[in-house]
Amino acid sequence: MKARQLFVFILACIGLFSPVHAAFVTMETPGTRLILDVTEGQLLRSLYYGDKSATVNDITQLLNGQINDQTVNAYPAFGDIDMIHLPALQVQHANGDLSLNLQVQQSAINNQPDYQELCVTLMDKLQPVTVRVFYKAWRNVDIIETWTEIEHREKRPVILKRFDSGYLHIGEGDNVWLTHLHGDWAAEAFVTHEPLTRGLKTIRNTDGARNAHLDAPEVMLSLDGAPQENSGRVIGVALCWSGNFEIRLNVPNNQGVHLYAGIDPQSSEYVLAPKRVFTTPKLALTYSTSGIGGVSRAFHRWARTCGYLHNGNAVRDILLNSWEGIYFDITEQRIIDMMDDIAAFGGELFVMDDGWFGSKYPRNNDSSSLGDWVVDTRKLPGGLQALTEAAKQRHIKFGIWIEPEAVNTVSELYEQHPDWALQVPGRELKLGRGGTQLVLDMTNPKVQDFIFQLVDDLLTKNPEIAYIKWDANASIQNYGSPCLESINTQLYIDYHLGLIKVLERIRAKYPNIVIQNCASGGGRANYGLMPYFDEFWVSDNNDALQRVYIQWGTSYFFPSNAMAQHIGGSPYQMTNRVIPIKFRCDVAMSGRLGIELQPKHMTNEERLQCTVALADYKALRHIIQLGNLYRLIAPQSYQPSAVGSQSATAKQDVAALMYVTDNRAEAVLFAYSLSNFMKQAPQRIRFAGLDPDRIYTIEEKNIRVRYNHSTSTWDTGEPCSLHGKQLTGAYLMSVGLILPLSTEYTQDFQSRIFHLK
Ligand code: GLA
Repeated sequence: MKARQLFVFILACIGLFSPVHAAFVTMETPGTRLILDVTEGQLLRSLYYGDKSATVNDITQLLNGQINDQTVNAYPAFGDIDMIHLPALQVQHANGDLSLNLQVQQSAINNQPDYQELCVTLMDKLQPVTVRVFYKAWRNVDIIETWTEIEHREKRPVILKRFDSGYLHIGEGDNVWLTHLHGDWAAEAFVTHEPLTRGLKTIRNTDGARNAHLDAPEVMLSLDGAPQENSGRVIGVALCWSGNFEIRLNVPNNQGVHLYAGIDPQSSEYVLAPKRVFTTPKLALTYSTSGIGGVSRAFHRWARTCGYLHNGNAVRDILLNSWEGIYFDITEQRIIDMMDDIAAFGGELFVMDDGWFGSKYPRNNDSSSLGDWVVDTRKLPGGLQALTEAAKQRHIKFGIWIEPEAVNTVSELYEQHPDWALQVPGRELKLGRGGTQLVLDMTNPKVQDFIFQLVDDLLTKNPEIAYIKWDANASIQNYGSPCLESINTQLYIDYHLGLIKVLERIRAKYPNIVIQNCASGGGRANYGLMPYFDEFWVSDNNDALQRVYIQWGTSYFFPSNAMAQHIGGSPYQMTNRVIPIKFRCDVAMSGRLGIELQPKHMTNEERLQCTVALADYKALRHIIQLGNLYRLIAPQSYQPSAVGSQSATAKQDVAALMYVTDNRAEAVLFAYSLSNFMKQAPQRIRFAGLDPDRIYTIEEKNIRVRYNHSTSTWDTGEPCSLHGKQLTGAYLMSVGLILPLSTEYTQDFQSRIFHLK
């Protein structure tokens, strides 16, 4: 029995995979279908991906003459493709040959209650190279994942020169629009919609350690022209990888769009020893006929229910994070005071951010101590125990910040293990944040053990810790690992494999601890890491106006219970913008709510509004965090057709979104007026996702507090005139409501939250 047959035979024996004998295989999700031709001895062909309107019969009728082998090759390898196509896979054989001719050797299917998984084994006609292409179709959500395994039995190593996770051909190229997220630190997830034109468009990120600042590893393709929120055919693509990636969109003449997505092969040729298996990251694909909103909802559901967000269906706590309130100025008293404040607001968790550690080198600013994860007892004489005890007394949970993959050159760790940092022997070190920060070598098993131990020690010595904020504030700037020696081209990949190994160990022992994924804000919002994290810090920019935009873009791919959104101070330190507390609360409340400021500096108005916001949020969070998102009105510059479409007097600067429960019995609407212009045209908001026949009662929430002149105190306010109205879903969706937002003589930043039930 040959090795490949043996593989399928073994899988079949353990009851997972059974051989496929038919020529065609359909992979189905509730609303989508993928049709593959797995005829043995031929190319693996992908004949159709879309909704369920196409059947195998439709497709096979057209096979002779109408379908071009070049465009249906499901995983094009260099050697198998013609001049105008690009390869998804290229290897250099031990003898220097660069080509492959892959043909199906066999295929096998694994039927599970939640998904169906197909494994198609391809063999090169000449060299002993095997490629297994996988497709996993989820039964409860419209996502199909694809990835590959590459293996060989040549005498010497084979070099993987390109190794995409997947390839997709879209047979219409004339009016396909690309939607992708682009940004920066403190300006994440800016949405770009653009028509695809002829030629090659590449989206990539080469940070090394993070991959969602700048360009992010997810895209959408709208097949019916400019993207619409709730209509039109849209394909969504998310690469589940945390390192460098490359998404290529090739539009050759008259041949549709060819999408390739995978690890960026630049500086990352992988040296594969005989019999070792290289597995590419998963590529998640979805197809929707309900616009980009449909794609977002599919990704959210998949993240929550298919293991791509840790504890995806759990409702998250409301927290106060110390960072923007006190930065490095941690003292026991300040921390305990902040615990008093969050408990008084009705919060559930306090997180002590940066600044709590360092013995020989105290962490008083960002230039020292990373790596020295011991409590600075000058600041915290009672250690962590005094703090967890204080939290317990206040009936709140306690969380802590770490940045495990980093070290400062000014640290005891660096003095003891300078070789644990990424570096190129003989070259001057490039230093990051604080002028002394380096990235630890995650390919080094000793570093992996050190990081596991750090978390394990924290949690075994302080079992009361309920939450960890895991930060990563540096990119890879020193392209060398003392551990990898001559195969430094593997650094960008092996770094992330090492990181995942550590996270897996931590999760195996601590499945219930909540871990926030932070990387100078949203630098690691990706589905490569999200399975190990419960949430991520959306941005270091906490300015509520800019957050409307940042959160809008982030919601294209990530669910709201993963998005950490905190009420920040005003004027906000980065933008110096003054924003009323009501608007700041309303913007933060549309995701996982928290507070990040010094409560001591809050006015009475701010304190009361926050207390109202937290109480209302608790009653609404099952809808906000777990409901289905409908984006209703995009902040203006995010609308693809907005350019030139309005005049100054008709300015409508409103953004609105809503969440609806699965059974459509309840919904929450968020509406924000971003600027106030005299004679601004009122914006009608048409709802979505409701049950047309149901009558919904509108209740205004987080009502603006007001000053009571007779008592000289702040009181709870009065709801607007729509409060208590009972309207059908049909009316709300097709006629809609004009909300009392900005009116003449009011300031910018008016907002409303409505609960519909
Ligand atoms: C990063 C994070 C912040 C904060 C600081 C602490 O910038 O994104 O939220 O934790 O580090 O140094």
